[in-house]
Amino acid sequence: MSNNQSIIQLREILRHLAQVISTAALYSPEHPRTLSCTPGLIDSLQGFLADEPELNLIVADNVMLYLGKPLEQDHNVLRMSKLFTRIGIGFIRIIRGVESADVRQLVRCVCGLESLDVLKTISTKISIGSVDANSGRDDTYEAAVATFSQLTAQQLENLKETYDGIALQERMDFRNVISLVAGFIDSFRRESNPLMALVPIRDLDEYTFTHSINVGILNIAQGMSLGIVGLTLHDLGIAGMLHDTGKTCIDRRIIQKPGKLTDEEFAIIQSHPSNGAQYLMGQKGVPAVAVITAYEHHMRYDLQGYPKVPDGWPLNLCSQITMVSDTFDALRTRRIYKGSWDFPKVCGHMMALAGSQLNPDLTINFLKLLAGLGETFPELPLDDTIPARENYCE
Ligand SMILES: [Fe+2]
Ligand SMILES: [Fe+2]
Repeated sequence: MSNNQSIIQLREILRHLAQVISTAALYSPEHPRTLSCTPGLIDSLQGFLADEPELNLIVADNVMLYLGKPLEQDHNVLRMSKLFTRIGIGFIRIIRGVESADVRQLVRCVCGLESLDVLKTISTKISIGSVDANSGRDDTYEAAVATFSQLTAQQLENLKETYDGIALQERMDFRNVISLVAGFIDSFRRESNPLMALVPIRDLDEYTFTHSINVGILNIAQGMSLGIVGLTLHDLGIAGMLHDTGKTCIDRRIIQKPGKLTDEEFAIIQSHPSNGAQYLMGQKGVPAVAVITAYEHHMRYDLQGYPKVPDGWPLNLCSQITMVSDTFDALRTRRIYKGSWDFPKVCGHMMALAGSQLNPDLTINFLKLLAGLGETFPELPLDDTIPARENYCE
């Protein structure tokens, strides 16, 4: 099914859902008038799920996102977005096989007749989550709090070959990236603390390589805390691991240069998003969102970064998540031109960037997530000793 068709079907689902919910609120979920609207909703859902295995929607601040992009607001989208935001639903997932009983349960929860938590245990076809990492500590979140098994030497070696291949402009063996991301997700489910995973690879001497893995790990951790699952979660991890692909072809002396770059050197660095996106676009099996993320990851939340784009450019959610991971890893990891910072200092700096360079909601969610994993959540005044950002590059 094309993207346009799925969005048309999705609008139809939301139209029926709005109708069922408003009728249930007016009468009751069990009233004949409500029940008479339900088949239309089930039909539209089943039509959508005939082509797609699942439907995932994210709602943040009265905006509904599908496949990482805000849905254009119409009356029903706006109504549902506002309602979900008000009652604290940040994520909704509906999978193939959904039936009237599942929908009825969802409607009862949305109407406040049952706790939102109940849905998770009684419906296998619909799940919901909160975007707030503190209140949304569901199974996924809890599963991410434990110890993480380290990457094997073989996995690292395979991945290193992949990145070396990019630098040599060879065709990319993308399978190594896919299998590593799948491994991370699996480990996170069973026994993970993403921060633990960052330690062993940070010691290697190839910054772009280790940084790429870190950003992939942090993207997955963020995605899980936001309730993102399935293929979308995989793509988020892959996009993180490939975001700096364009840097593998830049002279290492520029990447590792201590001190300020010349204008010419900085222009070369600034070309890496476009070059990376262009390279990835030609590679078989690379998800479209990874291409978009490679292109957008330096644009900043306020679009004042690079490449330059027109006002109102709709930044992909995956790019915005990657910006948060990217900034955190760059600040936290030891860099040749800047010593590593401790956690409170990094958090203080990231909070200062929230709203300009970084999406503020994602930044706060990320810092809460890390705090929940054992770090101290900052209540920091900004440190005046933090130097002004020079033209370095994550
Ligand atoms: Fe970058
Ligand atoms: Fe980066």
